This record gives sequence, structure tokens and C-alpha cells, in this order.
Amino acid sequence: MYRIRLYQSLLLFGLSIYPDCFSSAQLCVKREDVYKTPKAPPVALHISKFPDDDVIPIGYNITIACIGNSSKEGDSKNSEQPFWIQLFFNSIKVKTCGGFYSDRQESKICKLHIKKISKNHSGEYGCIVSNRFGCTTATLPLDLKEPSKPQFYTHPISRNNILTGQSANFSCEALGIPKPVITWFKDGRRVPKDEIKGIKAFSLLTFESVERQDQGIYWCVANNNEGWNRSNVANLTGDGICSY
Ligand SMILES: *[C@@H]1O[C@H](CO)[C@@H](O)[C@H](O)[C@H]1NC(C)=O
Ligand SMILES: *[C@@H]1O[C@H](CO)[C@@H](O)[C@H](O)[C@H]1NC(C)=O
Ligand SMILES: *[C@@H]1O[C@H](CO)[C@@H](O)[C@H](O)[C@H]1NC(C)=O
Ligand SMILES: *[C@@H]1O[C@H](CO)[C@@H](O)[C@H](O)[C@H]1NC(C)=O
Ligand SMILES: *[C@@H]1O[C@H](CO)[C@@H](O)[C@H](O)[C@H]1NC(C)=O
Ligand SMILES: *[C@@H]1O[C@H](CO)[C@@H](O)[C@H](O)[C@H]1NC(C)=O
Repeated sequence: MYRIRLYQSLLLFGLSIYPDCFSSAQLCVKREDVYKTPKAPPVALHISKFPDDDVIPIGYNITIACIGNSSKEGDSKNSEQPFWIQLFFNSIKVKTCGGFYSDRQESKICKLHIKKISKNHSGEYGCIVSNRFGCTTATLPLDLKEPSKPQFYTHPISRNNILTGQSANFSCEALGIPKPVITWFKDGRRVPKDEIKGIKAFSLLTFESVERQDQGIYWCVANNNEGWNRSNVANLTGDGICSY
């Protein structure tokens, strides 16, 4: 709450330079509430290289990107288009993109590049995207840790004597910084992606209805920029009557 109010006061301060926008300054909404305010611009704030990660490895070059889109409702003056993006780190303004009404775009992006990110960049990143009707805030907590190789935390477990038509599944979970990407192998061959749910850190391979050709030996491989690892192997075997 405090931070939002601080953002708003920063915004008010900034907006005093652009008096014709002043009337909309009170309307800053939170990113997740945009659907309630169709005149506010939708916002996304993420790290380009690690969009799904909450822990980022120290030492990498990263880009923090704030993207603002046009709001759902507009008028003939393109007032729905974002023209101003402000980026914050721990509530301190670190970058501004645009600011004049002529800077408006259908979709506007503001990027902060950080080379060789270090522990002291941990904290809360935030942005405010403004169109002529109002503004939207987004926040992104960033936790920096030493990079690490993938290690399996959950290995697949053998499923034996599975009847044809029965369901079965295997799961793999690997820890690592950045989050490892998991791929599945059956008898040494890559399992197609459409049979798999989840590829980052946790992955599930499901058989809604086991068929004879599903029998085999399965394992996972986890990869990240630091290295790779392999899980234990697990067997899927039939009931003995229908097998082979
Ligand atoms: C912005 O628009 C682009 C293109 O239409 C879309 O891919 C993206 O998801 C939108 N982002 C937000 C935050 O609405
Ligand atoms: C980070 O950027 C610097 C300078 O642009 C470059 O020399 C270095 O190789 C980059 N490091 C990584 C891990 O990409
Ligand atoms: C973080 O630490 C690095 C050295 O490790 C230093 O160069 C940089 O200025 C520091 N940044 C901040 C925001 O304190
Ligand atoms: C794989 O993970 C295990 C621990 O789960 C570890 O002992 C082993 O060194 C790892 N292998 C590689 C190639 O990093
Ligand atoms: C996976 O299999 C286990 C054991 O057969 C079962 O308890 C679980 O519900 C299954 N999960 C899914 C998502 O199918
Ligand atoms: C898996 O099957 C192989 C033979 O195909 C067997 O040698 C191995 O012991 C089985 N492993 C497990 C964990 O059941």
C-alpha cells in the first residue's frame, strides 16, 4: 500500500510537468485489477531471459522489460495508447521511456539492461504505464542467488503390471538456478512434447490409456545454462498377458 502511494506521489510529481494529464493521475490501478478498469493500460513486467523464474542467477546479463498495451476503451484521439513508462527499483525511479503525448504507441516497451547482475540487485522492481486516461502499476520481486546445476528432487517411479487401457503417469522434478528445462526419453528416444505437461522444473508424463507400445524404460534429463543431469530410470511394464 505504502509503495503504491509512493508511486502515485512520484507520478503526480512527474505529471505536474504535463498538466493536461493531471486529471487522470489519481486513477493508477494495479496490474491485476486492469480488467475492472477498461480505460487503464494492461501491463506486463518480466525478465526477458527468465520469464517464469522467481530466482535469477547472479552473474548473468539480464533485461527487465515493462510492456504497456492500449486499454480496451478509447476515443478518437488514441487516448488509450500508452505514452509513458517509468521503471522503479525499490521505489526509486531508475528509467523513463516516453513522457510526451506524442510518444504514444499501440504497445510500448521500456527495458532496463543490467550487465553481470549481482546480489545487490535483489529487491522489488516496479513500473507505471500511463495513457491519457490513467495509469497501471506492476511489481516484480527479484531474488538473486548463485547459479547451480540441475539436481533431481523427484525421480520417475516404475509402473509395473499396468493393464492395457489403464492410466499411468511419471513425474520428474529438478532444482537448479536458472530453472532447468526437463525433457523425457523412452528407450533412448525423446518423447514428443505433446504428451508432456510442464517443461520447467516440474514435468508430468501421462498415459490416459496405456497401450502395448508404451512399455519401456523412461527417464528425464534436466538442462540449464550451468549444466545437466539425468534422473533414475523407470519401467513401464504390462500385465504379462498382453505384453510382447
Ligand atoms: C499486449 O499485446 C500483445 C500483442 O497483442 C500481446 O501479445 C500481449 O500479451 C499484451 N500484453 C498485455 C500485458 O496485455
Ligand atoms: C554480458 O555482456 C558483456 C558485455 O556486453 C559480454 O562481454 C558478456 O559475454 C555477457 N555475458 C553473458 C553471460 O552473456
Ligand atoms: C552492486 O555491486 C556492484 C559490485 O558488486 C557495484 O558495482 C554496483 O554499483 C552495486 N549496485 C548497486 C545498485 O548498489
Ligand atoms: C546430478 O545430481 C546428483 C545429485 O542429485 C549429483 O550427485 C551429480 O553430480 C549430478 N550430476 C551432474 C552431471 O551434475
Ligand atoms: C499419477 O499416478 C498416480 C499413481 O498411479 C495417481 O495417484 C495420480 O493421481 C496420477 N496423477 C495424475 C495427474 O494423473
Ligand atoms: C526395468 O526393466 C529392466 C529390464 O527391461 C530390468 O532389468 C530392471 O531391473 C527394471 N527396473 C526396475 C526399476 O524395475
